[in-house]
Amino acid sequence: MKRIGVLTSGGDCPGMNAALRSVVRFAVHNRKEIIGVFRGYQGLIEGELKRLDRRSVSNIINRGGTILKTARSKEFMTVAGQRKAVRVIKTHKIDGLVVIGGNGSFRGAHLLAAKYAIPTIGIPATIDNDISGSDFAIGSETAVNTALGAIDKIRDTATSLERIFVVEVMGRESGFVALQVGLAGGAEDVVIPEIRYDITKMCNDIKSGYKKGKISWIIIVAEGGAEAKDIAKRITNKTKLETRVVVLGHIQRGGTPTAFDRILALRLGAFAVESLIRGETNKAVGMVTNEIKLIDLPFACKKEKLDTSLYKLIQILT
Ligand code: F6P
Repeated sequence: MKRIGVLTSGGDCPGMNAALRSVVRFAVHNRKEIIGVFRGYQGLIEGELKRLDRRSVSNIINRGGTILKTARSKEFMTVAGQRKAVRVIKTHKIDGLVVIGGNGSFRGAHLLAAKYAIPTIGIPATIDNDISGSDFAIGSETAVNTALGAIDKIRDTATSLERIFVVEVMGRESGFVALQVGLAGGAEDVVIPEIRYDITKMCNDIKSGYKKGKISWIIIVAEGGAEAKDIAKRITNKTKLETRVVVLGHIQRGGTPTAFDRILALRLGAFAVESLIRGETNKAVGMVTNEIKLIDLPFACKKEKLDTSLYKLIQILT
């Protein structure tokens, strides 16, 4: 293994740059050449490559986003696109690839390893934290804290004006962020894609709480669970109480990574390169009870089952 390629793919998240820094510097430390692939799999297909050195990743440890840029490539989903990507890998004599991303990116990495025999290792990086076999994906802790900061501010005005707020957080297919901020932010209810919500029960709870003198509500909705504006409209129709809607959106994907996400990214980045050098392929790196481990890529690609015990706890603590 002389030359290693690295790319970031799918939705960006805080900590991707820290992972890249670790991949590049660990590879250079081990006298490997390192090639940055820009714009994910799309850039791989189009041959957007650049040799990286230690200096290329200076001062990025604290930056959100990804200096390699990223993309959700439709072309890479086609066999023709995959063949173009493999041709670029071979032409540039890239002996192994590190893919930093989430579920979809991992499916691409698995394909390269299993179908085209390109040594490939994945690093989990997604705010949705839905990679199987790793307790955490890079970026999810930062995203939760970003959303939580906003929710704490919303609570100030919700309490002062005695209002019901419906706050939409990210997670098209995952209730991870919603559950975490729901619990940590003391939300009154949470709507997530994994559990069917009951609008009648929600409204009855609001009405009975109101009678007992409860003055404000924060209901967290994951974008894949429902649309916040629909929930708000249904609450107003049923209870005749005023509601307000806040959609937090992509602010949750940006910003400075927390210390936890940086340290995770730096540990996983180094371990990914070390694993490639050792001859591992078709694997992802992950963290299980603070230990860095290898996970089979096909397993990592499976959607992580959400721990719904947090959902039950939120209902009890309301
Ligand atoms: O990266 C994961 C994620 O942020 C999901 O939580 C969200 O549903 C989705 O990406 C949004 O993707 P896009 O930025 O392409 O709209």
